[in-house]
Amino acid sequence: MRRRDWLLSTAAVPVAVQAQPASPKNIVISSANGTKACEKAMSVLQAGGDTLEAVVQGVTLVEDDPNDTSVGYGGLPNEEGIVELDASVMHGPTRRAGSVASVRNIKNVARLAKMVMENTDHVMLVGEGATRFARAWGIPEINMLTERARMAWMAWKQSLRDREGNNNWTDGLDGLDAPTPKQAATLRQIWPEASDEMIAWAFDVARFPTTGTINCLALNAKGEMSGTTTTSGLAWKIPGRVGDSPIIGAGVYVDQEVGAAGSTGRGEENIRVVGAHTIVENMRHGMDPKAACHDVLQRIVRNYNGDQKKLNRFDINFYALRKDGAHAGASLWSGRPRRGGYMASFQYSVNDGSGPSRLEKCSWLLERKA
Ligand code: GLY
Repeated sequence: MRRRDWLLSTAAVPVAVQAQPASPKNIVISSANGTKACEKAMSVLQAGGDTLEAVVQGVTLVEDDPNDTSVGYGGLPNEEGIVELDASVMHGPTRRAGSVASVRNIKNVARLAKMVMENTDHVMLVGEGATRFARAWGIPEINMLTERARMAWMAWKQSLRDREGNNNWTDGLDGLDAPTPKQAATLRQIWPEASDEMIAWAFDVARFPTTGTINCLALNAKGEMSGTTTTSGLAWKIPGRVGDSPIIGAGVYVDQEVGAAGSTGRGEENIRVVGAHTIVENMRHGMDPKAACHDVLQRIVRNYNGDQKKLNRFDINFYALRKDGAHAGASLWSGRPRRGGYMASFQYSVNDGSGPSRLEKCSWLLERKA
């Protein structure tokens, strides 16, 4: 077979993508923490901006927000108290991708991933190399650990126990049950302004480490698509741990002919099913966005032979945006336990250009009982 014929015979062919509407329209979706991000991205699309520039500008708002403890500045640190960020971008029209992982001291890593895509011949830079790359481009380095995140990290250190219940970061055997009033009082000494709620939150995230993250996907009126995912990753991780967010095909994937997908939640599970790519391939083969996400959730369940006790130890969500504007958010579990026995359902953010973003309910695979 001549090379040209071979290339033609192996070219990816969309098998059963639904017919496109005559005039595609601007739409942005994201994880629930991205209502403002979607609005920002939509404003860029409405001004005629590129879809990748739109989603990067959108998530930059969340990376800058010290109150989102799962993304950018204010993100919860690794086990040594150092914030390490991961991010990726994918640009549909050019089919290019960029990503960075384990980046320290740089706030806007989605932008940095875009710079890797645009200004290097590589796709991924990690660790010190990524920080040096940022430095070379004059990006300022800052201390990424906010006082709020440091408080949660200290609460986590105080919660650790060996078999005998000892912990060198507490007053030893007096501090068996975390958090004791004494431990809370220790935090209050260091952070006298902290409210009871803030201290309780710190001990809460100490016990249930977050894997928050933001994923944001955009389609414009020309039918172009892009996506990005950015995160501080798993709280209290081993330094150097890389989650799914910077892995092209897991944390984000875009195929200009089909659609885009991304994920938030426990990255280890997503990497093993290459979630975003699998969802896009499912849509290529005719599944609607919801079915495409649920197929991937089923694969995660299969990885644990359906053992709900094990599955109950984590959360994971997927988001899908098809090229015709159809979209879905889907989560493994029906809800997430909150203090007081309340079960919060998972949501995702949608902005179709008609006004502020709205939150839509994620469909779910397994029912979680309070
Ligand atoms: N999904 C974010 C992480 O696991 O790092």
